[in-house]
Amino acid sequence: MPVEFLGIAATNNGSETTPRSGGAFDKDYTIRLARAHEDHGWDRVLFAYGSGTPEPASAAAYLASKLDKLQILLAHRPNVSYPTFAAKTFATLDQISDGRLTVHFITGGTDHEQQREGDYLAKDQRYSRTREYIQIVKKAWINRSAFDHDGEHYRFADFVSDVFPVQQPRPNVSFGGSSPAAYEAGGAEADIFCLWGEPLAETAQQIESVKQAAKDAGRTDVPRIQVAFRPIIAPTEELAWEKAHRTVDRIEARKANGPLSRRHSLTNPENTGSQRLLAVAERGERFDRALWTPTAKATGGAGNSNALVGTPETVAQALLDYYDLGVDILSARGYDLLDDAIDFGRYVIPLVREEVAKRDRAKAA
Ligand SMILES: Cc1cc2nc3c(=O)[nH]c(=O)nc-3n(C[C@H](O)[C@H](O)[C@H](O)COP(=O)(O)O)c2cc1C
Repeated sequence: MPVEFLGIAATNNGSETTPRSGGAFDKDYTIRLARAHEDHGWDRVLFAYGSGTPEPASAAAYLASKLDKLQILLAHRPNVSYPTFAAKTFATLDQISDGRLTVHFITGGTDHEQQREGDYLAKDQRYSRTREYIQIVKKAWINRSAFDHDGEHYRFADFVSDVFPVQQPRPNVSFGGSSPAAYEAGGAEADIFCLWGEPLAETAQQIESVKQAAKDAGRTDVPRIQVAFRPIIAPTEELAWEKAHRTVDRIEARKANGPLSRRHSLTNPENTGSQRLLAVAERGERFDRALWTPTAKATGGAGNSNALVGTPETVAQALLDYYDLGVDILSARGYDLLDDAIDFGRYVIPLVREEVAKRDRAKAA
């Protein structure tokens, strides 16, 4: 199974180490960063969602009109638009991008962040809504005749879309989360299930939980698995570790000037995914071949935050360890977003692709 690489479609140059130099939506930077991904072997880029961030679907349409190869992973929160409206937004974007869209349904890990846009449901209720939402979006993408819906969270009658995705029967549905409610909803509905990078053993456990949830939902197939990391690479191991420690120093220096983001608290995160990352960091700094947890600890386990540290060869081997676990979509982003996307694309992606191709050939033989 060929491996895929997911990068980041940031709309400014800000990160945990670097205050952004301009506004939240820097059109030129958005395209420059995306083009760097397209030119250096990445398959897809993620447009993340935050209550105050630039609206990702519009930014993604802009990108799709400027680049003709790079695929788009669009993060979407069900509470911000009605599912029939969202289905048309995604179908239109898939048309604009000539079939390059995957939608990443996120349920939101923090009640306070959800309430900023009028969402007062508790997390498990949010997951139940996400599940119903995805079912409606899938139906709206496929049904050519009008249908009614009368569910727990949504009710409407006689809806039929007049715009359909290029991808047939429909674009892929991606899903993220690590709580039991996430496994249940995502295991039942997702084509791609996304996790934040943890040690191999913990990741294997999560993959089993997702597969079991898919089975419990009566599925005969299972979602593909995506895992995310923060690679820190350099020409020698020594230089890579120096860079890793400097990275944490830069994060700590930034924290001295205030919160890193409005979306994530630095202490006591509500979402299971972040709690798991902090629990792993409590157990130690280094795991397996190259996993390093102080970057997660420094940011309160804020999303994709565990690092893989080493030379390109070491980091490539570490990623292949996850590939061998059944992870075929590898998500990565650095801290100096543009330079790190180019370096990772230039020095790590080719090594992983070559080794995966060799393994696939051996398997086929
Ligand atoms: C790959 C990935 C990307 C995510 N992107 C976002 C995002 O852009 N915005 C957001 O609010 N949450 C994002 N999340 C977090 C989800 O909203 C998740 O539902 C939430 O953290 C609750 O997770 P839990 O089930 O682990 O408690 C992402 C999660 C994953 C795994």
